[in-house]
Amino acid sequence: MVYVRKLFRSIALLFLLSPGYSPAAETTLRFVTWKSETAQMWDQPIADFEKQNPGVKIIREIGPQSSTQLHDLITQKLKNRDTEMDLFVMDVIWPAEFASAGWAFPLDRFFSLAEQKQFLDAPIQANRYRGQVFGVPLFIDAGLLYYRKDLLEKYRMSPPRTWPELVEEAKTILTREKDPQLVGFSGQFKQYEGLICNMMEYILSNGGNLWDDKRMVSTLNQPNAVEAVRFVRDRIIGQIAHRGVLAYEEPESLVLFTEGKAVFHRNWPYAWNVANDPQRSKIAGKIGMIPLPSFPGGKGVAALGGWQLAISRFSKKSELAWRFVAFMTSHAMQKRITLSTGRAPTRVALYNDREVLDQLPQLESLWETFKQAVPRPTTPVYVPLSNIMQRYFSSVLALPDTDIDNRAALAARDMNRVLDLLREAPAR
Ligand code: GLC
Repeated sequence: MVYVRKLFRSIALLFLLSPGYSPAAETTLRFVTWKSETAQMWDQPIADFEKQNPGVKIIREIGPQSSTQLHDLITQKLKNRDTEMDLFVMDVIWPAEFASAGWAFPLDRFFSLAEQKQFLDAPIQANRYRGQVFGVPLFIDAGLLYYRKDLLEKYRMSPPRTWPELVEEAKTILTREKDPQLVGFSGQFKQYEGLICNMMEYILSNGGNLWDDKRMVSTLNQPNAVEAVRFVRDRIIGQIAHRGVLAYEEPESLVLFTEGKAVFHRNWPYAWNVANDPQRSKIAGKIGMIPLPSFPGGKGVAALGGWQLAISRFSKKSELAWRFVAFMTSHAMQKRITLSTGRAPTRVALYNDREVLDQLPQLESLWETFKQAVPRPTTPVYVPLSNIMQRYFSSVLALPDTDIDNRAALAARDMNRVLDLLREAPAR
């Protein structure tokens, strides 16, 4: 017996001392995510995690920035039951689909209710499906209006409260500035998920909606919704925004603003840090940020966005993957990510943290916007519905002579077909 133990020890020693040995006996975790505009989002936190967990290596697979394209990549792997991918980032609209398809690992065993209470309620609700929780909110997003404070001050204007006011102010500034490079507005109008966020902000702030969640019918063809879409087409695109916005996602639209070539800009909270960084922006210190306007008599609406960390149902390393999720969404790490990137935290306590508020005073005023941000409806068939809406918005915005009522009716009919399927589906 003693002999056997000695033999084992010498074999182990030989193995450790052999020149080929590397900590490749290490465990790896494959994490699929998008590329961030700053190294502080992933590089540094991951390096810290690896330092704290010797023998664990995070292999990062960088997918597309666009939520729609990243969804295709991640769902393809999940459909293939790919055991390579352990972890992924999850847009706030995906949990219902991923949960109902059995793709995301339920986290209740790790993520207690008491811990969930430490987070903002809206993103937690978005991660819940049929009583279980499938993701941990990493940061929250809400649509905001950015503007050139210097230009508004120059023309003694106050920041717009309504969309028509925004259009009028932009037109006046463009006429007076006589700068052929300057446009009035930049936002995200390409055919992808960001288009839904932008368009729902106009539609809902005009008293309309995308669909009626209770009756499960599309409301895209109702007058308030159609009117808002017509406003964007006739008063914004090709008027105060150049038609290039029809191909813009967040990064392109932000560059136009940071280059000093747009008066108004719609984006998520991270744009504040980028636009105020003299290394990356020509308008640092010259901008303001306020809640999005409404239509007269209405209330401004911000789309709720944000990203979660989730574990694949097919991962063989869920315990270890959870260690990474818990680390990245811990109070300390969220604070660091918030301070270094300006992304809005999902942990409530950070909105009362002096250090955070001293460095990002805007978070105090954003609190209300986050609390009131409107989620996109939670349903496992969100993606097909979004695709129908994307095609409708994109075609009517791009073609000024299309009959919007007619296109809206067709889109509503297609959406209702998908919604019917849901109504017929047996509860799981
Ligand atoms: C942001 C939001 C996300 C949204 C996407 C659209 O990343 O956090 O929820 O779907 O923008 O482009």
